[in-house]
Amino acid sequence: MHFNARLVSFLLALSVAVVTTAFISLVKDAHWVVLFVAFAISFSSAFILFYFALELLVLSEINEAYSVLAKMKKKDFKLIQKRQNSTLSPIKKLNQEIYAYASKKQQEIDYLKQLAAYRREFLADVSHELKTPIFAAQGFIHTLLDGAVDDVDVRDKFLNKAAKSLDGLNVLVQDLFTLSQMEAGMIKMNFRVFDLAQLSREVFEQLEQEAQKKDIQLHFHATSLEKALIEADPAHIKRVMINLIENAIKYGKSGGQVWLALHETEKNIVVKVEDDGIGIPEEHLDRIFERFYRVEKSRTKTKGGSGLGLAIVKHILEAHDSKISVSSEVNTGTTFKFKLRKAANFIIAAEPVQDSNYL
Ligand SMILES: Nc1ncnc2c1ncn2[C@@H]1O[C@H](COP(=O)(O)OP(=O)(O)OP(=O)(O)O)[C@@H](O)[C@H]1O
Ligand SMILES: [Mg+2]
Repeated sequence: MHFNARLVSFLLALSVAVVTTAFISLVKDAHWVVLFVAFAISFSSAFILFYFALELLVLSEINEAYSVLAKMKKKDFKLIQKRQNSTLSPIKKLNQEIYAYASKKQQEIDYLKQLAAYRREFLADVSHELKTPIFAAQGFIHTLLDGAVDDVDVRDKFLNKAAKSLDGLNVLVQDLFTLSQMEAGMIKMNFRVFDLAQLSREVFEQLEQEAQKKDIQLHFHATSLEKALIEADPAHIKRVMINLIENAIKYGKSGGQVWLALHETEKNIVVKVEDDGIGIPEEHLDRIFERFYRVEKSRTKTKGGSGLGLAIVKHILEAHDSKISVSSEVNTGTTFKFKLRKAANFIIAAEPVQDSNYL
């Protein structure tokens, strides 16, 4: 039933007129004409009174509130306009509208609070990470200025250490810059067809020395593939491979092994980087792709990582419509996996393996 001022006034006026007429009918010998006139007068006067009171005092105020709400909603394009239930009373409808609007606003406030907390945390992380190499380089240079410069051995040693700290700072700032540009969508991927097997061999050559320092052996498997032609951004994919293999070496045990395997599936090349290193405790697995996240700050600090590598890897792979997955066991090893689309004219594998077997 649709309530409005006229209907409500009519019902109220009717009841007033009925009660009044009933009272008058109690008077002895009351003529029906008198009763009719009493009914008509009391009905019409009550109707006019109720109608104006409702229309002017209550409903006009509600309508005013509606139009204010409508103006607020117009600014908020995302607000979903629910179909209004016309059988509800205007006050109920108004309540519903206000409730929907308030809960929408509350969600926005929560989201903004989350963003503010995220920004605070990010600022704290960045300043913390920048502080370490800056303080170290500052310390060496001031010691030199305070007289250590006269001793040639000490001078060279301290200058080398200061240079190393500043190099680390440079890498950190560049990684941060890359990450912020990626998050802002400012880095466009330059897709082209290239051989992932060839790129993997290049990465191995590049990291050979690092592996040798830890007496780690690098193994490359490219099952059934002479060439793994994929359609991707070679420079960025190289960065992904370097990050993952560097991690495998960095967090590997000395005398250990690192395996890189490329498997061919119907439409993709699945890349698997595996090590037999220290592993990652399960509770950290979800978080290692967050920027600045390190499993044990003290443990990795000595290895010189800033915790940005995997965040960059994740972004690059997302830009390739791919997702990286990780599995690990403490003291046994870690495996990272992702897939990349094969170049269109290369989908001619003799015995393709189903994608689901790998990712
Ligand atoms: N193969 C791995 N084995 C064990 N732990 C790993 C491995 N790869 C990553 N981690 C853990 O995940 C954390 C995040 O890795 P990420 O590559 O993002 O940072 P990082 O190596 O510390 O620094 P960066 O790569 O920026 O130099 C590492 O600090 C380490 O604790
Ligand atoms: Mg790393």
